[in-house]
Amino acid sequence: MSDTASHFSHHVFFCLNQREPGEGCCADCGSVKAFEHTKAKVKSMGLAGPGKVRVNKAGCLDRCDSGPLLVVYPEAVWYRYVDNEDLDEIVERHLRHGEVVERLRVE
Ligand code: FES
Repeated sequence: MSDTASHFSHHVFFCLNQREPGEGCCADCGSVKAFEHTKAKVKSMGLAGPGKVRVNKAGCLDRCDSGPLLVVYPEAVWYRYVDNEDLDEIVERHLRHGEVVERLRVE
């Protein structure tokens, strides 16, 4: 494997953290299903793999009050999503075309 093949154009990190009952967290907002949906979507669009996109699980990203959250690198753009349409828009516009989805962005 060459050096290039071990890298990705984008990493997407989903907070899947589950906190104690009564404490807000991304897992309580459907982040596990969102992660699975996005991973499948990226794969089905042919965007997954070396040199392309990698969708990863993450622990708490320490912005629990703003969740559910994901962050896309290398741009370090944070998004708050609500449903699968939001996730699909991030995949289509940001991951496929490199265009930040401003309406979902969290500064
Ligand atoms: S639980 Fe998701 S950022 Fe902390």
